[in-house]
Amino acid sequence: MLLLGVAPTFPAPQNPPRMSDLPVSAIYGSPSFAVVDLPGDAVQVSPLSPGSQDLAALPAASLDEIVVLAPPGVVERRYVLAQALTALKPGGRLTALALKDRGGQRLNKELTAFGCVVGESAKRHHRIAVALRPETLQGVDEALAAGAPQRVTAEQLWSQPGVFSWDRLDPGTALLIKTLPELSGIGADFGGGVGWLARPVLASTKVAALTVIDLDRRAVEAARRNLDDPRVRFAWTDVRQAAEGLDKLDFVVSNPPFHDAGTEDKTLGQGFIAAAAGALRKGGVLWLVANRHLPYEAALAESFSKVRMVVETSGFKVFEARK
Ligand SMILES: C[S@@+](CC[C@H](N)C(=O)[O-])C[C@H]1O[C@@H](n2cnc3c(N)ncnc32)[C@H](O)[C@@H]1O
Repeated sequence: MLLLGVAPTFPAPQNPPRMSDLPVSAIYGSPSFAVVDLPGDAVQVSPLSPGSQDLAALPAASLDEIVVLAPPGVVERRYVLAQALTALKPGGRLTALALKDRGGQRLNKELTAFGCVVGESAKRHHRIAVALRPETLQGVDEALAAGAPQRVTAEQLWSQPGVFSWDRLDPGTALLIKTLPELSGIGADFGGGVGWLARPVLASTKVAALTVIDLDRRAVEAARRNLDDPRVRFAWTDVRQAAEGLDKLDFVVSNPPFHDAGTEDKTLGQGFIAAAAGALRKGGVLWLVANRHLPYEAALAESFSKVRMVVETSGFKVFEARK
């Protein structure tokens, strides 16, 4: 498990990396080998791959090649494409691809607007755009500013386009916050996002420690800025693996994800429930919110001795499950 006291960064400026240590090629995300050729020696730079390098921290004009599985959100995608072009040497090769209906059809236009001459092809429902980085880029500063970490909502929380519900409180989370009793002891927030749920949990002085875990580095970094509290530690990892490092917890709170790469995946939430059961002490409690249609009852009954649906309203249900 990656525990983050400080953000993972490229080596500090006073000890700059030797040119020979710098990666020359990178991959953003997990494009299919069946759709595109991937450079063998590339470093992973997606924030959704724990342990990966931060594309924003790579020196400008340092890469020969990058392959980007472009995200579906417009602001996030333009940000990643602008970062990728900035990290490339002039003449370096960008391959950007996306499913046709998840941004693929816009790649050519977006890259052309950045000053690229684009070659485009199609394969297995993807659009694939290839461009060599021009000497001079256009409009990247605006795209980099729009997609950067920023403060949102009346609460002025740090967030970033691309993280879950990036600029508003999710209604499921809001219901869980409304339903939670005052918690105490040592706990964790599974899939903590930018910290919406952790904030009210930490309002209880009886909470001694809280581990906030998320798969998305951007969310973990935002949460670290939003939760300036010595009781909190952060983990950038997959909850289903993190539980090995957590045990005998008094409580877990969670609004688990149910989408993986844009597709509904019920097993994600079921994996979160199993991980919570593994992390809690006997008598410890899981507070969980889920969309009404998600089938979590069997997984809860299997791992917990007492399960209660506390509220079901507006398309969501909140469970209290005691181990
Ligand atoms: C429904 S959101 C809830 C976020 C936050 N708790 C809130 O209420 O705003 C689920 C969170 O789980 C994270 N996530 C998805 N898969 C994960 C995994 N396997 N392990 C840890 N976190 C994961 C997502 O990045 C997202 O932030």
